[in-house]
Amino acid sequence: MQRILVVEDAQINRELLCEMLQDDYVVETAEDGEEALEKLALDGAGMAAVLLDLQMPKMDGFSVIEEMGKKGWIKKIPILVISGEYTVEAENRCFEMGVSDFIHKPFVDSIVKNRVRNALELFDCKNQLEQRVQEQEQTLREQYRIIQAQEEKLREAKPFNRLMMEYQAAIMEVETRLKVLYGEFSQEYNRNPFESIKSRLKSPASIYEKLGRKGLPETVESIRDHLTDVAGLRVICSFPDDIYRLAELFIRQDDIILIRKKDYIKEPKLNGYRSLHLIVDVPIFLSDEKKYMKAEVQFRTIAMDFWASLEHKLKYKKDVDNTEEIEMQLRACSDSIEALDYQMQEIRNKIDRSRG
Ligand code: GTP
Ligand code: MG
Repeated sequence: MQRILVVEDAQINRELLCEMLQDDYVVETAEDGEEALEKLALDGAGMAAVLLDLQMPKMDGFSVIEEMGKKGWIKKIPILVISGEYTVEAENRCFEMGVSDFIHKPFVDSIVKNRVRNALELFDCKNQLEQRVQEQEQTLREQYRIIQAQEEKLREAKPFNRLMMEYQAAIMEVETRLKVLYGEFSQEYNRNPFESIKSRLKSPASIYEKLGRKGLPETVESIRDHLTDVAGLRVICSFPDDIYRLAELFIRQDDIILIRKKDYIKEPKLNGYRSLHLIVDVPIFLSDEKKYMKAEVQFRTIAMDFWASLEHKLKYKKDVDNTEEIEMQLRACSDSIEALDYQMQEIRNKIDRSRG
């Protein structure tokens, strides 16, 4: 049962109200304002309603309402003023202070019960409504937070996407220059300096993995400053001398800046990896500026590429049996490939010479 506090100095009225309400509520009483506040302070939130007389010794009803207002209890507990002969001004003042209703004397059983029940129901509805509004407010705040986070991500994504666009432009630039050389060679010397070009833009996951692995900050500036292989191209040639000739012609172009050259053909890696790597700065032309972008260009023969694909599979495949044996075989294959590449080149040279 819900609890109700009857605050009334006249014993007869207290008893009367207790009598009327005790079947439906647990009724507690206070004889003056001070006692009422003490009881509310003990367990204020547990009280379902306060029936309050205005004229009382020690502390009157107005002061009780004022105190309850200050403590915020008035929002949680409905106050019904037990009225004697009050003036309209006094009643209006009560409403202004947050009182829910009046119960006029002489007390009529059914009216007292109805008014108390109504006040409780009304407050219950109001509280539920407030609760729901609070929940919705919370949901809205949460959604707003998510939207802000997404907005933030988009803001960050914009410069990243711009950078990727610029690297893509660098790939196209390198590709075009190599294709122009291809066209010239085919026409002038009836020779194809390369078989194919593969290109790839490093994936965001791979970019961030590399930055993390190297302990570098995950920013657009850091990508630009520290990574050299976001724009990657692989040029597959038929013969080793095509690789050197093509690479030389490419870096001789007056706006291509060679940053680093790694010749894994002259000095193969221990595992047998052979390729020529160029890290270059390539100019790209945007609407309002020309800027240099880094690109990694790998040159290798068809046979070296075939070897690297297989070796790559071994590197990324877990739980391979006889790894050491396979590694040895791969090293041996790489040496055979080198010998084969130069033999093929020699044969081609002979054919070329015999043509005169
Ligand atoms: P990464 O951090 O892997 O880029 O290496 P790096 O910056 O020390 O440069 P390196 O020239 O060694 O390698 C650049 C790229 O060449 C690699 O990302 C691979 O695509 C390729 N590469 C280098 N070494 C090997 C190798 O042993 N096997 C294979 N299959 N590819 C290799
Ligand atoms: Mg790399």
